Amino acid sequence: MRTHYCGDLRTSHLGQSVEVCGWVHTHRNHGAVIFLDLRDHKGLLQVVFESENTTVFARAEKLRNEFVIRVVGNVQHRRAGETNPKLGTGEIEVLASELEVLNTSEVPPFALHEHIGIGEDVRLRYRYVDLRRAEIQQKLRARASIVSQIRRFMEAQGFVDIETPTLARSTPEGARDYLVPSRIHPGNFYALPQSPQIFKQLLMVSGLDRYYQIARCYRDEDMRSDRQPEFTQLDVEASFVTEADVMNLVEAMLVELFRVQLDVDLGKFPVIEYAEAMYRYGSDKPDLRNPLQLVDIDDLVVDSDFQVFAAPANDTNSRVAVLKVPASVDRLSRKRLDELVEFVKKFGAQGLAYIRVKDRSAGRDGLQSPILKFLSDRELSEILTRCEATSGDILFFGADKALTASVFLGELRDHVAKDLELVEVGGFYPCWIVDWPMFELDQDQCHSPAHHPFTRPNCSLAQFNSNPYEAKAHAYDVVINGYEIGGGSLRIHDLEMQQAVFRVLGISQEAQVKFGFLLDALKLGCPPHGGIALGIDRLVMIMTDAQSIRDVIAFPKTQTASCSMTQAPSEIDHAQLRELNLTLRKDSK
Ligand code: AMO
Ligand code: AMP
Repeated sequence: MRTHYCGDLRTSHLGQSVEVCGWVHTHRNHGAVIFLDLRDHKGLLQVVFESENTTVFARAEKLRNEFVIRVVGNVQHRRAGETNPKLGTGEIEVLASELEVLNTSEVPPFALHEHIGIGEDVRLRYRYVDLRRAEIQQKLRARASIVSQIRRFMEAQGFVDIETPTLARSTPEGARDYLVPSRIHPGNFYALPQSPQIFKQLLMVSGLDRYYQIARCYRDEDMRSDRQPEFTQLDVEASFVTEADVMNLVEAMLVELFRVQLDVDLGKFPVIEYAEAMYRYGSDKPDLRNPLQLVDIDDLVVDSDFQVFAAPANDTNSRVAVLKVPASVDRLSRKRLDELVEFVKKFGAQGLAYIRVKDRSAGRDGLQSPILKFLSDRELSEILTRCEATSGDILFFGADKALTASVFLGELRDHVAKDLELVEVGGFYPCWIVDWPMFELDQDQCHSPAHHPFTRPNCSLAQFNSNPYEAKAHAYDVVINGYEIGGGSLRIHDLEMQQAVFRVLGISQEAQVKFGFLLDALKLGCPPHGGIALGIDRLVMIMTDAQSIRDVIAFPKTQTASCSMTQAPSEIDHAQLRELNLTLRKDSK
């Protein structure tokens, strides 16, 4: 139907007769002449209709936005003063000799060039219209290109693409499962995989040696701007590997990916121990674009009369740390400081002491703070020196259980840096986080795996059994700009170690039922193995500078895990319920 794409035409086509198809982006009727911007996936093209060509002109007068048309015409120079340097086609236009209306369109729910003010709910309800925007199409095309390059890289490294089931059993990645009722087995359910974790380990037992998959995963968990209930992983597993083997492979892949796709050199990734990351950044996924760091002052306040500081300073499981925000005295008002105190409370803080350093040279008189009266001259002076404070800085203090203080100061670090625009724009700062603990305390103060229960402890079975909660793991996460892009580990290939981990988690019985097949496999010649999974959506989000993960997914779910367009999830009729042997509780609405 066409000889060229709209967005491809250039001055090199001048004088040629062309046939183009697309959507009417905008149209302007000047009486004797009609201009329209015709759009296809390659871009915009100006088309001109002159009144001399009466039939075609009459047809053109009826065109409206988003009509689908085919135009035959000649490529000519735009008139002087009408060129548009912002467009690839900005120097030329097509003078139409024929016009075919392939389809009409009702008035679209929003004009494509005015989407900014349109609520995301409307854009998602008419996602197929929203997806006509060049900006979002570019993101989807970038995603395809990224995935294609990843596949080529993995295959060049000898990895084989193997599909694993999605009607499966529960895999323990820490979220709730999405369940699918079985018609044939009344009362039984499949779980959609939270990841292919167990299958990929079994492929190693089978001797496949190097597996990868671009795998869809499903997790019923709280939504955030970097989370979706269904998302895509680059899932990787290899046999007879060390931690360094997996990390080097993934680092090389990411370096190559950023070089080819963005012409960005990621350089060598710094490797940061988990404890160090918490200590310096208050986060296990630090944003290294942010220059702020935490400084510990426990030793300076152990003898303080101020119990808010002295008590945690004297407790080995607690910490007293400072976040110094330079040159902020004039930028953070009292009202804003009060808001920050409320902000950290969301992360478990009981309070947030701060000192405004108005004039460092004036000693105590140069400082402003509700806690000045509690601190001695010596304490104040040592704290200022430790933090290398200068006039204009604000020092924020966190004093609590080490994890709580780290987390709320870490959140404050991100929050304030964004607010004051201290975060470097445009850069990419990757790092590895290693030396994870095997277990962490969850909200209910229960021990849960920091990764998943198949992660190999970094110690012998005897050492693990004698002090399991102190055990470190052979686990590694890759982080870019404060986003956890991927996580992986070496796995347990020894039956007794696997049973010991289940025992510590208090799930020995349950594990026997749920993962008995994995335990059996460990008895039948399981090689040492390890792997990783990268979140493709998050990676693409960062690489395309998208604000939300939804911008890099063609048909994403909303914050409430629903699809505005198809209205999923939806009710099902009684016949279907009966067939599945399900009855709904009366109060389920
Ligand atoms: P993990 O749970 O860390 O590891 O997941 C790996 C990566 O997947 C991405 N991710 C998500 N992306 C979008 N929405 C979500 N809801 C979501 N959840 C996770 C993150 C994360 O780093 N089986 C292990 C991997 C392994 O050990 O090999 C696993 O799934 O980028
Ligand atoms: P209080 O003695 O509770 O009135 O607290 C005195 C000051 O210390 C106030 O400015 C509080 O915000 C602050 N504060 C209280 N608890 C903590 C804490 N755990 N960490 C940091 N500052 C705190």
